[in-house]
Amino acid sequence: MPALPSPALAYRLEAARAVVHDAARLAMSMRPPPGGPQGELKSAQDWLTETDGAVEAFIAQRMQALFPEDGFQGEEGGVSRTGSLRWVVDPIDGTSNYARGRCRWCVSLGLMDGDEPVAGVIDAPALGEVYTALRGYGAFLNGKPIKASPIKDPARSMIEMGWSGRVPKPVFMDKMDAIMELGTMPRSGGCGALALADVASGRLDGYIEIVINLWDVAAALPLLAEAGAVVSPFLQNGGLTGGATILAANPHIGPALAKAVSIPLE
Ligand code: IPD
Repeated sequence: MPALPSPALAYRLEAARAVVHDAARLAMSMRPPPGGPQGELKSAQDWLTETDGAVEAFIAQRMQALFPEDGFQGEEGGVSRTGSLRWVVDPIDGTSNYARGRCRWCVSLGLMDGDEPVAGVIDAPALGEVYTALRGYGAFLNGKPIKASPIKDPARSMIEMGWSGRVPKPVFMDKMDAIMELGTMPRSGGCGALALADVASGRLDGYIEIVINLWDVAAALPLLAEAGAVVSPFLQNGGLTGGATILAANPHIGPALAKAVSIPLE
């Protein structure tokens, strides 16, 4: 590990943490109370709230003021600026949870250097948790180092599978069946970025989603790499430009899980 990170990247991570902190507070101030979903449907069971747009606009403006030379890509607005470094934001990941006043959602901001994810901040204000990572310099939860779990036995493992209306039901059910055949304990929590962060922190042994997008995973990829998790080649398999499959797992269980669900790790 080099002694010191590049000042340009270290400064960006600190700036991102502060901006995402403010954005997360904005999201908390706008969070609907517990109850039926408040928002509109983009497609079947795919929710959009006023907060998604407000948080994305807030982060876009702050990053432009701080780093006018950097590119910017948001879930709602697409690529609005280009640059060799590029911020990728999901303003509210877990919108379906947020829209019902639930706690499992986050603001996710990743930094790409070309096609390489180099830094990430995931702030889950309703949980009081902030994940940060810079490639080569570790992954942290609320400032404490994290690492993937040591669980080897699938029969003691907990695996999450992300769901969205983008995946045909038989495909989802086939993978879920394969996971459960291994003897794992299944989960599905509605926030891909936090599920991937859970793999990085050891709270989950694996996460699978058949079709997920770059903004959901950009901040989590550096966390997973720094925490020693194994990850399928999401970016190489189309994730840079569209929806693609991801499997992330602790390194002990990863190969067996990948084989069981037919999602290669390489
Ligand atoms: C969604 C969540 C969900 C995942 C979907 C994503 P959004 O993001 O991460 O857990 O399964 O694929 O689209 O819409 O809440 O930003």
